[in-house]
Amino acid sequence: MKVTVLTGGTSAERDVALASAVQVVAALRSRGHQVSVVDTARGYISEEDEATLVPSKVGTKPPTTARLEELQRGVLVGSLSQIPAIKGADVLFLALHGGAGEDGTIQSVLEVIGVPYTGSRALGSALAMDKDLSKKLFEAAGVPVAKWIMVPPSRALEAPVALPVIVKPSKQGSTVGLTLVKSIEQLKPAIDLAFQHDDEVMLEEFIPGRELTVGVLDGKALAVGEIIPKHEIFDYECKYQPGMSEEIFPAKLEDKIAKEAQRLAVLAHHALKLGNYSRIDFRLSPEGKLYCLEANTLPGMTATSLLPQSGAAVGIPFPELCERICAGATRQ
Ligand SMILES: Nc1ncnc2c1ncn2[C@@H]1O[C@H](COP(=O)(O)OP(=O)(O)O)[C@@H](O)[C@H]1O
Ligand SMILES: [Mg+2]
Repeated sequence: MKVTVLTGGTSAERDVALASAVQVVAALRSRGHQVSVVDTARGYISEEDEATLVPSKVGTKPPTTARLEELQRGVLVGSLSQIPAIKGADVLFLALHGGAGEDGTIQSVLEVIGVPYTGSRALGSALAMDKDLSKKLFEAAGVPVAKWIMVPPSRALEAPVALPVIVKPSKQGSTVGLTLVKSIEQLKPAIDLAFQHDDEVMLEEFIPGRELTVGVLDGKALAVGEIIPKHEIFDYECKYQPGMSEEIFPAKLEDKIAKEAQRLAVLAHHALKLGNYSRIDFRLSPEGKLYCLEANTLPGMTATSLLPQSGAAVGIPFPELCERICAGATRQ
């Protein structure tokens, strides 16, 4: 099969996307597929350039705003249709994270171009990127969520806030712009920080306890995993620096709780009308109650990322996972 891996882009999660791409490319080539690479910010990357242009390691922080702005002046997403590796592919594999690559923008462009692409369509992608709308749909589907309020545009809160509280941009990822606020003095700076990353910001009840994640593939839940970050929350550094979090697949849980997390993951996946795969994040409170945090439509795809671990724990090796994701690409 001719597969073109779309990666890079101009979101804060650009480095994460590049790291995923390197491994997806290798996995698909190991299965005999003809694979090309396109950086949606810079265009076609020749095979000789792949090694130099695509870092396999993510930094401790997202790229600077200046770097992202520089990239934004590069290739326009609208001109993707001009690239032969895109027009001529059987499937476009989306190794993109955050921003236009994950929020439905690129998915809409690809619908127009008409080449099948992996992951969720534009609607599901946009819903999952918007945590406020996701939570409303999760609630409607019977998936429990932490209580939340949206910060008004004036940034003046009407009622006193119970602490600790999580302040987060509604449409971001990789814990960028998110703060665990424990004292009232921290609240305003946390809100201002979140607004630097999005025009909508939420305050969410802090759920103490454990961090779980569940992969979903072809309508079924994969293994439940537990993440034990070195920091209090699963932040950017813990997500992408080796050794900064312990990840246990399958999680050591009572069978009843693991099965419930799997059931809720599939419900959450369908509530947002997602494609053939996703990864759903949860908190598990000390009382044993599960709270769905969010759905990730384009989760990290290095061989040691969470979704691949969730698949490996039920006997799906990484190259097979990549192939099954290709097989589930959107068809016209
Ligand atoms: N309500 C919450 N209670 C406790 N921890 C939270 C809460 N919301 C977020 N976190 C922590 O922050 C991390 C990132 O939050 P999440 O909502 O998944 O956003 P992102 O899209 O940035 O991954 C979570 O994995 C968790 O560790
Ligand atoms: Mg998350």
